[in-house]
Amino acid sequence: MSARAGVRAGDAGGCPVSHASDSPVDVTAEAVEFLHLYHEERRLPGVADRVARVREEIAVTGTYRHTGDELVHGAKVAWRQSARCVGRVRWAGLRVRDRRGVTTVAGIAEELARHLAVADNGGRIQSVMTVFAPDRPGVGLRARLWNDQLIRYCGHRMDDGSILGDPAQVAMTDAVRALGWHPPPVPGRFDLLPWVLETAYEDPTLVEVPRELVREVALTHPAYPWFEELRLRWHALPVISNMRLRVGGVDYSCAPFNGHYLGDEVGTRNMGDGDRYDQLLPVARGLGLDTSREDTLWREHAALVINQAVLHSFRAAGVRVSDPHTESELFMRFCAQEERAGRPVHGDWSWLNGSVGWAALHAVHHRYYDTRVPNPNLWQTDRAYGPAGVEALSLRQRHDVARRREG
Ligand code: ARG
Repeated sequence: MSARAGVRAGDAGGCPVSHASDSPVDVTAEAVEFLHLYHEERRLPGVADRVARVREEIAVTGTYRHTGDELVHGAKVAWRQSARCVGRVRWAGLRVRDRRGVTTVAGIAEELARHLAVADNGGRIQSVMTVFAPDRPGVGLRARLWNDQLIRYCGHRMDDGSILGDPAQVAMTDAVRALGWHPPPVPGRFDLLPWVLETAYEDPTLVEVPRELVREVALTHPAYPWFEELRLRWHALPVISNMRLRVGGVDYSCAPFNGHYLGDEVGTRNMGDGDRYDQLLPVARGLGLDTSREDTLWREHAALVINQAVLHSFRAAGVRVSDPHTESELFMRFCAQEERAGRPVHGDWSWLNGSVGWAALHAVHHRYYDTRVPNPNLWQTDRAYGPAGVEALSLRQRHDVARRREG
């Protein structure tokens, strides 16, 4: 079970190490462990029979097929054990869409669009995961999305060397342009990136995101009318599309999932960070703060005001969003539940604690967490594009090689 040994890097891009290949022994051990967990937590009889059948299936095929209910429970447990997520009290309510039978680019694109609609739910955002076909043992992914989230904004390289839009998406924006995508005639700061989808039978394909399914919120501040002149906005749904779901020794590399936003993610990280939209200085100017010296704490002041704007605007637009105080209280409830159930609380302190809400010194700060990363879980995957993660072969080529090998 090499995934367990996955080292955790401290930086934001750091991630549990990816699985290269699995020996049938590992798969079996992980399968047996998961089936016991599943039968026990769901209070189901017959674990010995199920284990025996799965062992046979692995011996013949190198893997096995989860029942629909095993998949649903496995996905929920993967969320429950995700060390970085502060919203895990909701784990049992995850809506899992079992789409293992959908394997074409057109079919997957349609299901992604449905995912957006189901998750958006008129602004009362629901947590949803859509699971496509599992990876083939020894060969790899059957379907791959290049995007790290289903909704993201372009980072355009301008002639003068500056970046317009989200600097975090420059490499992806370059990648879609290389595939033949044309940016809008007048590029903006909030242009939607298209999806890039590939499968074992189809080359990387560009798909426009259905505009009408993308809810966005224009940011305004309850006390500062000038704030809206900054013309900032953000999308309502964070749908992570570059993580691999691993359940009982089976990898589902194409399994996009979403929750709803914590204000901090948009207000501090996406809007405030110097390598993202970098809005602290414009906001501090609007507030008339002295930015000539750090000890006026103008950065903290500006970040706080942007966070207020995010929470206010999302609420006013009827879009579900969490504030740090409510969320940390809910997280404490989750910890208590887990402890009552006799389970350790897996957690990454630096991710669970945000940057606003410190004044009340909520309880999430005042404890430590179990830093192991057991499966089921969600793992970072390699980038499908760009200098560091370039795949020499497309999925289709990789699968062709495997098919030839198998004769
Ligand atoms: N921080 C990421 C973003 O700003 C989203 C990560 C997932 N967040 C969530 N609330 N489920 O887009």
